[in-house]
Amino acid sequence: MIVDVVFGAQYGDEGKGKIISYFAMKKYYSAYVRAGVGPNAGHTVFHRGKKYALRQLPSGFLDPDAHLYIGAGVLVNPKVLFEEIENFEIDKKRIHIDYNAGVINERHISIELGSEHAKQIGTTKTGCGPAIEDRAGRRLVLAKDTDELKEFVCDVRRELEKHRRVLVEGSQGFMLSNYHGTYPFVTSKDTSVSAFLADVGIGPKQVSDIIMVMKSYTTRVGNGPLKNELSVEEIKKYNLEEYGTVTGRLRRVSKDLHFDDLEKAVLVNTPTCIALTKLDALFKEIKGIKNFDELKITSKEAYEFVVNIEKRLKVNVKYIGTGPNDDEIIVRDEIP
Ligand code: GTP
Ligand code: IMP
Ligand code: MG
Repeated sequence: MIVDVVFGAQYGDEGKGKIISYFAMKKYYSAYVRAGVGPNAGHTVFHRGKKYALRQLPSGFLDPDAHLYIGAGVLVNPKVLFEEIENFEIDKKRIHIDYNAGVINERHISIELGSEHAKQIGTTKTGCGPAIEDRAGRRLVLAKDTDELKEFVCDVRRELEKHRRVLVEGSQGFMLSNYHGTYPFVTSKDTSVSAFLADVGIGPKQVSDIIMVMKSYTTRVGNGPLKNELSVEEIKKYNLEEYGTVTGRLRRVSKDLHFDDLEKAVLVNTPTCIALTKLDALFKEIKGIKNFDELKITSKEAYEFVVNIEKRLKVNVKYIGTGPNDDEIIVRDEIP
């Protein structure tokens, strides 16, 4: 079994969903496993111009032959899950949830809605934080004890043995890690690759590729520090407007890459390659380009931007996003 892992290097929303959907389109994997906190995440996938927003299911869902797993460490909100199954008309036989996954209920959401502290942090109001508190307190109800999830429940780690190629989908971003991020302005769990592996139950020796997804600039939703933050007027002037998938909030933006943070992300998560997204947002003329040589010819600046990232982080940029659609991507075959 070959296991690869995707993780976000910044504050979430780096475009993991789009990169994973590209893999699904190419049928790289037969199993996609959600790791990370839970339905606080919102991945956007654009396929053939149609937009899909996912919070609970893996972003590889557009490959109809792929199986979709949710790891033991991931929270499940059954309401969100069933909405996605219905909206995207997914065959339920493809969905598998670990029997030890924790379940979010209405009480968790109302606790978060009423919490002044959660408001100060700027949480997603999805009940994830309070559910994790219950898990630590060993009073959280698990999937195996939830009737409506019965048909999906299994031992995910053992089921994965049926597959030859598996992708672990990390969610959120490294700077939102409860251990390594901008505490207390972080999410409720660690969001490093090691944590994603633990969420699914995969040992470190099993992993082949570790794909670090990073945006060509920096965005953040919720409160907490953001170096060189732009004003709302500046965000609009530079056409860097983006709205949160889960909360609809305007994402905060810094036009820079924060290399000291990215270096730490590399140190802790040991990526084998980088997927650089939204390069077209900084260099409009490269929109839709699918070939690295063509990028080089079209914009020397964009090319140098990529080379500089490789020089600073000492990791190869293998994938480059040149538009929101899952086929607007450069894959550099010269990089293993
Ligand atoms: P979380 O799991 O919540 O951290 O989200 P995510 O990493 O899946 O990212 P999300 O979809 O929330 O945000 C990324 C945004 O960038 C979405 O609006 C995508 O459609 C868009 N996007 C991703 N890659 C590209 C790209 O290469 N170019 C452009 N123009 N947009 C992109
Ligand atoms: P919580 O995870 O809902 O408790 O929110 C804590 C912080 O993490 C807030 O700043 C959220 O905006 C942020 N956050 C949580 N999940 C995501 C995500 O998937 N993308 C971006 N930010 C997130
Ligand atoms: Mg998101």
